[in-house]
Parts: sequence; C-alpha cells; structure tokens
Amino acid sequence: MTAINRRQFLTWGLVGTTAALSTRCAQNLTFGSPLTIFSSTDTLPTHQRSQSGLLELALQARQQQVPLGNQTATLLTYNGQVPGPTLEAKTGDTVRINFENQLAQTSNLHFHGLHIPPTGNADNVFLAVPPGATQRYEFVVPEQHPGGLFWYHPHHHGVVAEQVFGGLAGPLVIRGQVDEIPEVQAAEEAILVLQDFDLNRRGQPREPMPMFRRWGRQGNLMTVNGALIPTLTIPQSGLLRVRLLNASPSRIYRLRLDNHPWHLMGLDGGTLDEPVEIEEDLILAPGERADILVPGTREPNRYSLLSLPYDRGITDMMRGMGGRHHRRASIDNAPREIARLQYGETTTAVPLPKLLIPTTSLPEPTRRREFVLDHGIDHGHSFLINGRGFDHNRVDTPVQLGTVEDWRIINKAGMDHPFHVHTNAFQVLNRNGQPFPFQVWKDVVNVKAYESVDLRIVFTDFPGKTVYHCHILDHEDQGMMGILEIQPASV
Ligand code: C2O
Ligand code: CU
Ligand code: CU
Repeated sequence: MTAINRRQFLTWGLVGTTAALSTRCAQNLTFGSPLTIFSSTDTLPTHQRSQSGLLELALQARQQQVPLGNQTATLLTYNGQVPGPTLEAKTGDTVRINFENQLAQTSNLHFHGLHIPPTGNADNVFLAVPPGATQRYEFVVPEQHPGGLFWYHPHHHGVVAEQVFGGLAGPLVIRGQVDEIPEVQAAEEAILVLQDFDLNRRGQPREPMPMFRRWGRQGNLMTVNGALIPTLTIPQSGLLRVRLLNASPSRIYRLRLDNHPWHLMGLDGGTLDEPVEIEEDLILAPGERADILVPGTREPNRYSLLSLPYDRGITDMMRGMGGRHHRRASIDNAPREIARLQYGETTTAVPLPKLLIPTTSLPEPTRRREFVLDHGIDHGHSFLINGRGFDHNRVDTPVQLGTVEDWRIINKAGMDHPFHVHTNAFQVLNRNGQPFPFQVWKDVVNVKAYESVDLRIVFTDFPGKTVYHCHILDHEDQGMMGILEIQPASV
C-alpha cells in the first residue's frame, strides 16, 4: 500500500470499538435528529472542597478497574476514579495532600498552572515517589491568585505520557475574585475533563508503537468526565458556565457547539476583560483550559458539542508509511459528538457579565530570549529545545526574581508543540507577528508547525528550579523540556 488519502484516513478512524457510535453520530449530524445514545452523568465522581481554609485529603494512585464510557477499563486512577476527584480551594487556603503511590512505577504530583513555590513539598516536580511510598504535598494558594480551573497530574520525567494516558489527571478549581461576579455566581457550572484512550480488547491501555510515541500517543476513545457523550443541562434563560480541560497527553481538540452561541470568558488560569462570543471553533491543546459561558436563550432543543478534525502535523508524516501500520496508526479525526446540551427548567434571566477581571499589563522586559523547538536526528527520536534534550542536572535558563522577560518560542519542526511553563503564567503577545487577541494569563500556548510565538513572563516571587516543556507529553518524556532557575534578585 502506498499513500493514505484523507478519505481512508477518516475511514480508519471508524475502525474499532467506537465504530457504531461514530456512525450514529454522523447520521445524527446529517439528519439533525438528536438520538438518545448514552446518557451519562455530567457531574464528576467526587468533589472535595476546602473547609475553614484547609483542603486536606488522601490521594492514592493505583491501578484499578473502572467504568469508562460503555465499558470496563483497567486504568491508572486517583482514589479509584478517572478522572480523579475534583479538588476545590479558595485563594488564601492551605492545600495538604497525602499522596500514596500504589502504582508499579515511580510517580509524583504536579499542580498545573498554580502560582505556588516549585520547591520543598509544594509544586516540586523533582520529587520522585517510588512504588509503595508516600509523600505529603502542602502549599498555600496566594491571596492574589486568580480564580480558575487548574489540574493535577503526574510529572515524573520519562513516564508522564504513559501515566496520563493511563488515566491519571484531575481538575483543581481555585475560587477567586472572578467567582464573586454576580452573573458568574448565578450561572450553573459544569467541569468537563477531556481525555482520550487507546484500549485493547481487555480494556487495558495499549503500549504505543515507536512512531506513536514520536507523534504523541492518541486514542480513538474520547471521553468527557470518563463518559461517552454526557448530557449537560442548561437552565432556560439562565447561564451555564462550562469549564473545559484538555487532559489528553497529545490530542489537540477543535471544538464547536453546534447551532448554539457560546462565549469565552477565560483561558487557562485567567479571565478576559469581558466575555467574547466564539465565532469560530475553539482549539484546545493538551494542558489548556477554556472557561465558557453558554446563555440559555435558544430553542429548548438538544445541541451537540462536537470534536472536529485537527491536524497537528502528523497527516503528512503518515502519508509515507507502509501498510502494516495502518490499522493501529489510524488517528481518528472524524467529527464526533463528545457531549450534549439540553434545556432544563426556566430560571430568572441571567445576563452575560459586562466586565470580568481585567489582566494587568506587564512592563517592558529587561531581557529577551529565544527557545527553538526541533526534533533531533539521532534515531530521529529526540525532541530538543535550543538543540538540547532534557538534563535534570543542567540549568538551561537562569532568571532573576523581580524581572520581566520576553520569550520567543520558535517551532522549526513540522508538528505542533504546545509550550508550557510551570510556576509563572505568561501573556501571549503575538503569533507570527500577529497580535494575540486577548490580554490574559496563560500557561500553555500552542506553537504550530513552523510558527513562532512571543510571550511576556514575570518572575515576581518563588525562587527555585522549575521547568518549561512541550505538553505533548511524549515529547516532554523524550527530552523537550528545560530547567528554569528563578534566582533571588541580589545575594
Ligand atoms: Cu501539565 Cu509540566 O505540566
Ligand atoms: Cu504544568
Ligand atoms: Cu511537542
């Protein structure tokens, strides 16, 4: 067999356990008649909130059988759940997590997007928790921390993709100033954790082929809160706040709410100045979050949240491949309904908020740097930043506390690389010279193939070593990560 054309590519996507579902979904799209397929719960398994300023819990990572979509899967879980329990704290609260590793591999915890110390037993990804060991994590959420959706996941270099693809990820909500806005307070809220899986017949995650590790592992089973096509209810004439998290190791989602308006109010850990209607699709790279307001102003029908094809630069690479790989190499990019919106009872009308929490402008930088993302030539299997693969003994980027820097991220490769920085959020300035439309705190920015992105970052507090990396977790595991050392201003 020779080249793979697009039709075949889409067809292969229908192979496997989800074939029936995709077909029905396609009919659904064509004829516009909503079918009741699976109706799952839209609430996450458990939700643990802080009390009197303290969120304390035991979190155990263990392999376990869990219901996933319409089957039973053997996954890696936090407290027996996929996704893990929703954790919720307020600004100023203390978070104390007694982590126990019951996996067969070393693991640890990372609090993605939180502005907390990267040292000690706070957000320290250099801690390694061997099988059978426990580790207490503890930190205070700063008073000035933005309210937003963050998440926790393992971060032990070399096995991150495997563990996240096994199911390990959970949402972490910080309640802050934005949650005090009356219209936001009056909104119903749904957190949607997007995860994809590639399971064998026994419901176990498949070991990816080498080329899949190169592209970033991706699966045809697309779940939302561990379910297939869960239904969300929007109050008629009210507001629904939908908080999306892409917790998949590699998949980039292109999302559309079919036939229904939706408004963006925030990205990653920040809010926009005001809600902005999403006119095109919403692209969500691994690690990214979107905070959305859906006004219940349409006809009380059902509406589909669709996942549409997105090419992150791997279709070209697939073209040259031999036939024996086709079946397992199929990356399902067919349009898919992943969740559904239905109308509930009428409530008092809630308008969209006029003003959110504006993001402060950063002063001019004291320093500029470049980060070149590329693929190595040794066996073609290493992923590099500025020509180097990750080395945990090397500081790549020393910065000074109290400074502002401009970073240019240059992608010299033919594949997208979502760039993520720990500890400090940044503001995206422009993409290929085009200004970024929003002033907002982000912690992941997708740098498309051959593109370059400028961002501005500030190091106000928390000295110590931390990391930046590509959030296609296979790329991170294969070296696309560097160490940032935030040094005290003057010693
Ligand atoms: Cu969500 Cu360093 O990662
Ligand atoms: Cu992170
Ligand atoms: Cu990458």
